Amino acid sequence: MERFTVTTPIFYANGRPHIGHAYTIIAADILARLNQLLGKEIFFLTGTDEHGAKVAEAAEKNGKTPQEFVDEIAGSFQSTWKELGIEYTDFIRTTEERHEKAVVFALKKLKEKGVLYEKKYKGLYCTGCEAFVTEKDLDENGFEPLHKTKPIVVEEKNWFFKLSEFLPQVKEAIESGRLKILPEERKNEVLGLFEQGLEDFSVSRSKERLKWGITLPFDESQVAYVWVDALLNYITALGYGSDDQSKFEKFWPADIQLIGQDILKFHAIYWPAILLALDVELPKSLIVHGYFTVNGQKMSKTIGNVIDPNDLIKEFGSDATRYLLFNPFPFGNSGDIAVQDFSEKYNSDLANNFGNLVSRSLTLVKKFCENKVPISNEETLREFIGREIDPRILALKENFGNGLNQLNIVQKVLEIARVLNEDINKEAPWKETNEEKRNATLRKMLEGIAAISILEKPVLNQT
Ligand code: MSP
Repeated sequence: MERFTVTTPIFYANGRPHIGHAYTIIAADILARLNQLLGKEIFFLTGTDEHGAKVAEAAEKNGKTPQEFVDEIAGSFQSTWKELGIEYTDFIRTTEERHEKAVVFALKKLKEKGVLYEKKYKGLYCTGCEAFVTEKDLDENGFEPLHKTKPIVVEEKNWFFKLSEFLPQVKEAIESGRLKILPEERKNEVLGLFEQGLEDFSVSRSKERLKWGITLPFDESQVAYVWVDALLNYITALGYGSDDQSKFEKFWPADIQLIGQDILKFHAIYWPAILLALDVELPKSLIVHGYFTVNGQKMSKTIGNVIDPNDLIKEFGSDATRYLLFNPFPFGNSGDIAVQDFSEKYNSDLANNFGNLVSRSLTLVKKFCENKVPISNEETLREFIGREIDPRILALKENFGNGLNQLNIVQKVLEIARVLNEDINKEAPWKETNEEKRNATLRKMLEGIAAISILEKPVLNQT
């Protein structure tokens, strides 16, 4: 059986999950379920990113030790994903022993390969990004635009990774499509970063400033930089660096790594470079989605527009929440989620379009066909299947390897219901006296509903 490996970023354990996180994982779950339907064996990986300054500060604010705090937050992610019907294969936490051991293994290997060096460094650190930023990344008031905070000046001795040594290979992998980046604009954005120049990055932080991390195996005074620690999850979860390599051999490289645009540089440049340094294969593709706003504004605690997916589940149920969060705009784009429109969209797409089609059709089949699937005039049926169903199934199969196209195809499945509703209105089987004609319409409805049920199953799984 062919296998299919899909990953989400591991979510920062600095607060409870919100719909931004849900957006990424719903898409991953849809891809996993879809490719399972297409006959693949799935490995779907997610988890929580639990070290670093951002998490340590959140724990302190909440009056908890970091470990107590991340245990609680990791639990809230797991229970929310369960409520949302997310069926991952593995959930990795970066504070787990299996991960920490493998990170130590990888760091040792990088050191032995001679790609790490010590340097005294002074720079601006943005805790929101968990990264050093430069003056040109900031707005006119000196704030980092995404997190709306002023970075702090940090001066410390760190270990650095010789990124420059790997840049030509990373660039070649992206240009040649060996590491596919979708949509195309994101690939161009990454290639643009090479033109601007990329500096070596630090792989450690001084314990004097930050204790909450994995101690470097070759320097007790330092912990691993949280991004290096976190990126490695994609392979540590599969057993990289452990005694049992079977899962790693079977499920790596990942077919699709899903990410938001805000973490593109880490995944498209740093991550492949680390893998090359470790002599590990690169993932096959990165699918990058936009960063959405809620009712026109960035979600933030200060504005008070952070939405908990659990609240949507209470109002609409789990399947409809998946549908509503997945569908506001084409996957891959950025856009706005207008929560006040959810009820309307729920009614128009799910209740009136698909729900109504099902209930009308079944009522008529009960009335006219003794609740049995009617025999039909083969020609109209085949014409319908050839026009609406087969091309979609074929496109899903042909786009194995292009998850972005697959997601865009799934977003349009309920168009079949719209076509069928138009047909049923036009053909009016409730007043049709010719039995053959009536049966042809009803059979077409049933075939269409069956196809929709299968094609939409990755999204509306329980329904
Ligand atoms: N911990 C890092 C990832 C490490 S992966 C080795 C991180 N975590 S995060 O919790 O901040 O974000 C995780 C995912 O949620 C990202 O893909 C991010 O883009 C997504 N989103 C968070 N807020 C979002 C929106 N408002 N809109 C769309 N996606 C958003 O980054």
